Amino acid sequence: MAGSVLVTGGAGYIGSVVVAQLLGRGYEVVVLDDLSRGHRQAVAPEATFVRGGIGDRGVLDELLRRHRCDALVHLAAYALVGESVAKPEMYRANNVTAGRVLLEGVAAAGVRRVVFSSSCAVYGHPPATPISEQAPLMPVNPYGETKREFERLLTGFAAGDGATVFSLRYFNAAGASPHYGEDHAPETHLIPNVLRVASGALPALDVQGTDYPTPDGTAVRDYVHVLDIAHDPGAPVIRPSSSRRRVGPRRSSAGGRNTPVSTRSSRARGPGTWHTRMGTRTREG
Ligand SMILES: NC(=O)c1ccc[n+]([C@@H]2O[C@H](COP(=O)([O-])OP(=O)(O)OC[C@H]3O[C@@H](n4cnc5c(N)ncnc54)[C@H](O)[C@@H]3O)[C@@H](O)[C@H]2O)c1
Repeated sequence: MAGSVLVTGGAGYIGSVVVAQLLGRGYEVVVLDDLSRGHRQAVAPEATFVRGGIGDRGVLDELLRRHRCDALVHLAAYALVGESVAKPEMYRANNVTAGRVLLEGVAAAGVRRVVFSSSCAVYGHPPATPISEQAPLMPVNPYGETKREFERLLTGFAAGDGATVFSLRYFNAAGASPHYGEDHAPETHLIPNVLRVASGALPALDVQGTDYPTPDGTAVRDYVHVLDIAHDPGAPVIRPSSSRRRVGPRRSSAGGRNTPVSTRSSRARGPGTWHTRMGTRTREG
């Protein structure tokens, strides 16, 4: 056995893929999810599932008493930008206040490795792209603020408890693994909605604005494949088979494919980050 990992939010879109990848790598996995936004059937059957909130210290302590966990992958959160603007207190309570209880619980149980699913929403409108890891954190919505605040809590955890922590500041997730994918209600993400329009399940596509400074006025969005976020080292890598340019229009690099640019361990300097090269103007949530 490679070790044991507690995955919060493991019944959600990204979490379900992360759980399956960890199991595939030989880890024992315990999922903590309150199913407020996720699905029980999205959790691979080989994982232990505990239904509960990350802010429920009783549930957490019992879970950590029964299951030794070497590391925490923290994905549980509310994650819709628009909803966060309408209900900022609800976002703060779930993403920060409940998150603090989670951190205190795992710290008390001796867990010293944490990977946090942050967001590039912590950067707000960055002064330049590609965004450097050192770019100022200036979120422009409550969702991004909760991510920045939780990162601060993580910095304290790293400094005070000698933990190693990572924050993954990625952009929009897309795609699926062969078994797990996206299933939100309501679905606000572009790609599932494009597919719903294509299949006739949705009458029209809302691209949310046509006044961006882009060739057709619609926003440019960058995506990271969900398997790249889960980072399966065994996943097939597509390598270019030709070095010749294709004739025809090309996208600028700013609108190109997301590529992880940095990994940094934390301890003394605060959370390490792993984020993506972006020319993107919008985040979906
Ligand atoms: N989807 C993206 O494009 C994207 C991009 C960047 C960062 N993120 C972050 O990644 C994480 C996962 O995103 P997702 O798209 O899979 O979201 P999701 O809504 O599909 O999954 C979140 C899961 O967390 C659970 N949850 C929420 N609050 C909880 C609580 N208090 N206690 C226990 N469980 C709780 C939900 O039930 C759900 O299963 C989130 O933290 C999100 O902010 C997502």
